[in-house]
Amino acid sequence: MKFFIDTANLSEIEEAYDMGVLDGVTTNPSLMAKEGITGEENVRNHYKAICDLVDDKVSAEVIATDYDAIIREGKELAKIDDKIVVKIPMIRDGIKAIKYFHSEGIRTNCTLVFSAGQAILAAKAGASYLSPFIGRLDDISYDGLELIQQIVHIYGNFGFETEVLAASVRHSMHLVKCAEIGADVVTCPLKVITGLLKHPLTDSGLAQFLSDHNKAAGKLT
Ligand code: G3P
Repeated sequence: MKFFIDTANLSEIEEAYDMGVLDGVTTNPSLMAKEGITGEENVRNHYKAICDLVDDKVSAEVIATDYDAIIREGKELAKIDDKIVVKIPMIRDGIKAIKYFHSEGIRTNCTLVFSAGQAILAAKAGASYLSPFIGRLDDISYDGLELIQQIVHIYGNFGFETEVLAASVRHSMHLVKCAEIGADVVTCPLKVITGLLKHPLTDSGLAQFLSDHNKAAGKLT
């Protein structure tokens, strides 16, 4: 299972990469805006800075919503670095654009996915990654994890190559459940990744080991 970090914050990306468990980065226009990154050139430079921090797979989202503009913008984003994956919304022109980029060997991430039907369309078009949003479904009383399970099952039926990239992952149990279900990738904030470290028995056990060691070492001196 791959871990992507869902942020445009450079120090968070660095911290996750430094842990040695990071496989990629996803961003979206809201996350870029949160970092105060606006204007074409600043956005491009920021994506380049992210690419320079990690090994591969940096999702950069298009703002355009009509086919020609998505193609133009996607090509510009792909030119920034070989690590870029062009992130495209689940709309009719987006699906057409995904098909085009697939034929050109440019990787895509189909985003804003909320149903199995949408997942089938994206896979048929040749998306490299599919981003179903778990947390946002949970927010409106639908079961986000159930959707991941359904999509993993459907993709398995037909051997679709599109990787299921669980997004809008809000807490560590979302992540663990996605692993159980067999999602290929999970993208989440840094706190969800570091949350996996935590267990009270680890903390108390370590404190005990260190205290016993220090007591024994004290007796020897
Ligand atoms: O990758 C999509 C993700 O950023 C959405 O997360 O928490 O805003 O629903 P959230």
